[in-house]
Amino acid sequence: MAGPLDKQGIVVLDQVWTMEDWDKFWNSAADIPFQINDFNPELLKLEKMLFPIPNKKYRVLFPLCGKSYDMKWVADKGHGVIGVDCSAKPLEDFFNEHGITYVEKQESSCQVLQSTTEGCNITLYAGDIFNLPDSAFEKCDAVFDYGSVIAIKPEERKKYADVMNKTT
Ligand SMILES: C[S@@+](CC[C@H](N)C(=O)[O-])C[C@H]1O[C@@H](n2cnc3c(N)ncnc32)[C@H](O)[C@@H]1O
Repeated sequence: MAGPLDKQGIVVLDQVWTMEDWDKFWNSAADIPFQINDFNPELLKLEKMLFPIPNKKYRVLFPLCGKSYDMKWVADKGHGVIGVDCSAKPLEDFFNEHGITYVEKQESSCQVLQSTTEGCNITLYAGDIFNLPDSAFEKCDAVFDYGSVIAIKPEERKKYADVMNKTT
């Protein structure tokens, strides 16, 4: 099986990659083709549904998050963010690129990166979405899922939906 990049360094998305493929991709790609360097405008449309009660602080799960700007948008509104990605690289990049300080700890099979910047409530888990500690899913009020399904093997998509359902 080919890796995440073909011989010209072009990303091939015609197969479901393994977590090792993704980690290799994140650690070698100069450009991330699916990365939008701004928040997803869909968030504006969904804002009232995600955060129905004004001034209440919510906790939003971003499964298979990469280094999505959407997490910053939600955190900037004062809400809590939980992100999960099998590769630690985009999570470290996310914090570094946004100037957010963080500490790292190990929790069961996951590396956990916790922001230490004041007023910024973001916890990022580097691990398999199917093998997270229960603490990752505690008190999640909403899930914002963008571009995850292509990264989940077809035979595991029902299991993925079950994991998402157990969060709320
Ligand atoms: C197409 S990207 C989507 C990234 C992000 N949602 C965004 O909008 O930029 C899919 C992501 O899933 C991650 N991934 C793949 N399999 C995973 C798994 N089993 N558990 C956690 N993350 C996984 C990859 O590292 C990759 O960052």
